[in-house]
Amino acid sequence: MRRPDPSPPPAFVPPHIAHPPARRRRILAAAGVLATAMAAAAIASRSTAPAEGQASPTPRVLASDPVAAGRYLVVLGDCNGCHTPRFAETNGAEPPESEWLTGSPIGFRGPWGVSYPSNLRLSAQATEEADWIAALRRRTGLPPMPWATLAVMNEDDLRAIYRYLRALGPRGEPAPAALGPGEAPETPVFDFVPVPPSRRAG
Ligand code: HEC
Repeated sequence: MRRPDPSPPPAFVPPHIAHPPARRRRILAAAGVLATAMAAAAIASRSTAPAEGQASPTPRVLASDPVAAGRYLVVLGDCNGCHTPRFAETNGAEPPESEWLTGSPIGFRGPWGVSYPSNLRLSAQATEEADWIAALRRRTGLPPMPWATLAVMNEDDLRAIYRYLRALGPRGEPAPAALGPGEAPETPVFDFVPVPPSRRAG
């Protein structure tokens, strides 16, 4: 039997986005402080069902600072797995964080042609926050970028990722331009074409 719950819903901590930019930069500069802040990050989700007629707040990450939330989301979302050279092959042991998210010159080849994980640090520098969020919200681009995942992310979470990218600062070169189906790449590629067992070598 359902019992009416007269108590207010669990407190929902607002995002701590009021820090002035100078403070954010200082926090990023101190990697230890950042790591501590990251440890404080937590997934915010409702632990109890909302009472009838009440709006349910969208889950999002809470952290002491949006840059720390962004870093946490980048790690959790495995953005480095594609957008950072050597990261996937070394289980994240390489490269150092200062080289994260600079894009990859190794393409992903499939029926869509060849796509290259973008240099996110350069594209975040070149794009206003609102435009960056809006683009990720509606954009559908080439595989294997997890567009569908980013499209459902809470706006505060997307903002946090953007601020982390901005805090990392610009670095590296733009990734090569994508190629259409059948175009021959001049770079190494990972092939996304399933190979039937009968044709497997060995
Ligand atoms: C499985 C590989 C993969 C993963 C994981 C991945 N990406 Fe991507 N991403 C790509 C590729 C490839 C492209 C280029 C797509 C295209 O050309 O349309 C891309 C493009 C993008 C773009 C568009 C860049 C621009 O300049 O417009 C953004 C932003 C982006 N990724 C953010 C992220 C974030 C944030 C994460 C982690 C939450 C992430 N990606 C995880 C492969 C990946």
